[in-house]
Amino acid sequence: MILEKNNGKNRKKERRKRLVKFKTPYYVIHEDELDENFNKLKDALETYWNNYIIGYSYKTNALPWIIKHFDSLGCYAETVSEDEYNLAKLIGVAKNRIIYNGPIKTKNSFLEALQNECIVNIDSQREVEWLREVELKKRTVGIRINFNIEKMCPGQSQCPEEGGRFGFCYENGELSKVIKSLKEKKVKISGIHLHTSSKSRGLDIYRAIAEIACKLQKEFELDLDYVDVGGGFFGGLPTKPQFDEYIALMENILSTCFDKTKTKLIVEPGMAVIGAPVTYITRVIDVKDTEFNRFVITDGTRTSIDPLMTKSSYFHSFEIDGPREVHPNQIICGYTCMEHDRLFEEKDGPTLQSGDYIVYNKVGAYTMCLTPLFIKYFPDVYVEANGNLKKVRSAWTPTEYVQRSVLE
Ligand SMILES: Cc1ncc(COP(=O)(O)O)c(C=O)c1O
Repeated sequence: MILEKNNGKNRKKERRKRLVKFKTPYYVIHEDELDENFNKLKDALETYWNNYIIGYSYKTNALPWIIKHFDSLGCYAETVSEDEYNLAKLIGVAKNRIIYNGPIKTKNSFLEALQNECIVNIDSQREVEWLREVELKKRTVGIRINFNIEKMCPGQSQCPEEGGRFGFCYENGELSKVIKSLKEKKVKISGIHLHTSSKSRGLDIYRAIAEIACKLQKEFELDLDYVDVGGGFFGGLPTKPQFDEYIALMENILSTCFDKTKTKLIVEPGMAVIGAPVTYITRVIDVKDTEFNRFVITDGTRTSIDPLMTKSSYFHSFEIDGPREVHPNQIICGYTCMEHDRLFEEKDGPTLQSGDYIVYNKVGAYTMCLTPLFIKYFPDVYVEANGNLKKVRSAWTPTEYVQRSVLE
């Protein structure tokens, strides 16, 4: 059987042609797609809780262009380390538009963030101690809540047996103790932070988050400036829950205990806003037959689109010239020396050959930031806007690799 080279719509074909013209491998960020999806999130918040903050999750993808772009769209910077906190300042985020989360804050950056009136959510006992050194009028923090999400959403949490490790545990009384201790220290509890990474990213998770927020508000008589529900949403995928559904569902519950005009809803999207609008473009460099398999070697790598090696399939397409014979089974591989740098098996697909392009879609989250400097260094990144591509990061070379190193 002969496969036609491209039976997609013309628009898609044209777009793919535009994309495959630079030295591979490289990423392309589709700015229009990013903005369109981001606006859906904003619209949902404006419709259902028009007193909100969107904190873009730096850890999900902190490419400088990306974090600057989200700043320009009005997002706060959601950071979880001193490095991320300082990165936000370095790229020009206003000093009070940083959300500072996580267990690994340093004391200096913690104190500075409070001084600058950032949104600081405490995660550990040591931060409670540091608060003694903060002047009374700046003693304002949110508390990261550790709660039994598995019980509320069976089968959907990330650590069903061991439970989550972040925040102060509600069920064993640690939360109650910390609230008491903060009150003794005259610390204002301005918010609760309920981020929950889940396997499902489903609506149930956000129902549970909103319910627990209400439960805590009542039980501890909290008068909160914000409820921070964190990230973990889907976004940009038509077959998955939409922003409207997440926010409407939470509004329904939260509005029974919180006054919309007083308490802000904070969301911290990462994957939902940067996962979908990014493409990774690679090329076939060799085709090799062995006793067992046909291996198609490419100049991309699994470590650039699945650094945790957890995925078994990818949104992908081929950009090839001319009709091709069908091949029963080809194993598409990356360039590294790791045997398991195998991306996918193509069954009954077009017979690939050197020079063909393989384009991976929806690879913006937890990729660029997690890619190791293994064998080759960081690739080029382009932004596509109005049909044009602009380079926003040049591939690293040995020059960047040796920076800040002592050679002798
Ligand atoms: C505190 C916090 N906020 C936001 C996020 C972003 O999550 P996602 O990229 O799944 O939307 C994370 C991810 O781990 C997180 O830990």
